[in-house]
Amino acid sequence: MTTQPGEKRSRFDPEPMPRRDFLGLAALGTMIAAFVVSLFGMLKLPKAAVSASPSKKYKVLLPDALPEGEAFIPPGRNVAIYRDGEGVYALSTVCTHLGCIVKANAKGFECPCHGSGFAKDGAVTKGPAPTALPWLKVTGGAGVYTIDEDSHVKAGTKV
Ligand code: FES
Repeated sequence: MTTQPGEKRSRFDPEPMPRRDFLGLAALGTMIAAFVVSLFGMLKLPKAAVSASPSKKYKVLLPDALPEGEAFIPPGRNVAIYRDGEGVYALSTVCTHLGCIVKANAKGFECPCHGSGFAKDGAVTKGPAPTALPWLKVTGGAGVYTIDEDSHVKAGTKV
C-alpha cells in the first residue's frame, strides 16, 4: 500500500527498510555473532592441554604374596620390582634401545618395538639394546619401599 506524503500510515503497514540499512544491520549482526563465537573459543585457551607428570620418587606397597623372582609392576609406572632371598630391587622398564616400555615375561623382559631381550637382572640377552636395564634406587623395608626413578644404583644393589 502506497501512501501520499503527509498521509498517516497504518501500524500494520510499516515503512519498508531500505536495502542499504538492511545490509548494514546484517553485517553488524554477523560481526556480533562472530565475536561471541570467538569469545567462547578463547575461554577454552587457559586450560592446560597436558596434565602434570607424576613424581619420579614414590612409595610402593609390595604384596606379601609376591613370589620370589616374579616382577611386580606398580600401575602406571615403568618399574619392575623383584623380591628374592637377598632383598628387594627395582629395574627401569624403559628399553635402552629407543625407549619403548619392555614387557615382563618368564625369562625377564622383552621389548615389543624391536625385539630386545633382558634377563631378570636387566642384562641384555638379545639386541639391539646396547646396555642393560638400569637398577633404580630403592629404600625402605617391611613391605613399603620408596622407588626413585631418577637415581640409578650399581647392578646387584638390594635392600
Ligand atoms: S626400543 Fe626396545 S628394542 Fe628398540
